[in-house]
Amino acid sequence: MTRRTFIAGNWKMNLNLASATELAAGLRKATDGITNLDIAVCPTNVYIQPVAEILKGSNVGVGAQNAYFEPKGAFTGETSMEMLKDIGCKYVILGHSERRHILHESSEFINLKVHAALAAGLIPILCVGELLAERKAGTTDLVNRRQFEGSVSGVSSNDMKKIVIAYEPVWAIGTGEVATPEQAEEVHVVLRAIIAERYNKEVAESVRIQYGGSVKADNAKAILAKPNVDGALVGGASLKVEDFMGIIKGA
Ligand code: 13P
Repeated sequence: MTRRTFIAGNWKMNLNLASATELAAGLRKATDGITNLDIAVCPTNVYIQPVAEILKGSNVGVGAQNAYFEPKGAFTGETSMEMLKDIGCKYVILGHSERRHILHESSEFINLKVHAALAAGLIPILCVGELLAERKAGTTDLVNRRQFEGSVSGVSSNDMKKIVIAYEPVWAIGTGEVATPEQAEEVHVVLRAIIAERYNKEVAESVRIQYGGSVKADNAKAILAKPNVDGALVGGASLKVEDFMGIIKGA
């Protein structure tokens, strides 16, 4: 089973209208002709539409960083999956550690969003990852299993195949301390075994698992070379064309 490499940029709460559209235009140009892997950028909600307009018909897909699970109604301040789909989104990041730990989102809540995203035809990029204290306590696998299982509860085999997992150890996010290729591979193997156990081997072999956490052009190649690492979810290094392209070229 060959899994198509998927490199996604999570712009988080960065850039402004001018710099976001400039970055999108730069990426459109730089990725012209690159068709052997999937590429996406995830701007903050207010910049999705202008970015999606620029990237329409290009090799770069657009995703959101979060959304609410209800399709519409009295939910002040929230955005639905349907709305994101409507303005050109293909993907939605769900369960990012910043949402789990800063916004206190539970796996049960994320599970509702996973179902809503699939129902709206969006591809969830479902994040899991342990804190440094959890790694030190030897609970890495347990934490990732709980986050994963809680977030995909009730998801069918067919839908599971559409989901992209992003393993993002919290201690490696924005810290410059990247997991070693061996550390990433080790967790990806465990996650794939959990998918096989809950679903079956065929599903497990088809799900793409990205690594995220301080991925840069100079460390991406070694991590992406690991057999169970199928791509990267990139934060800081996705904010400049040359940095992001350095990672894409290493893939
Ligand atoms: P950094 O690449 O900035 O460490 O962020 C990783 C991340 O959280 C991507 O979702």
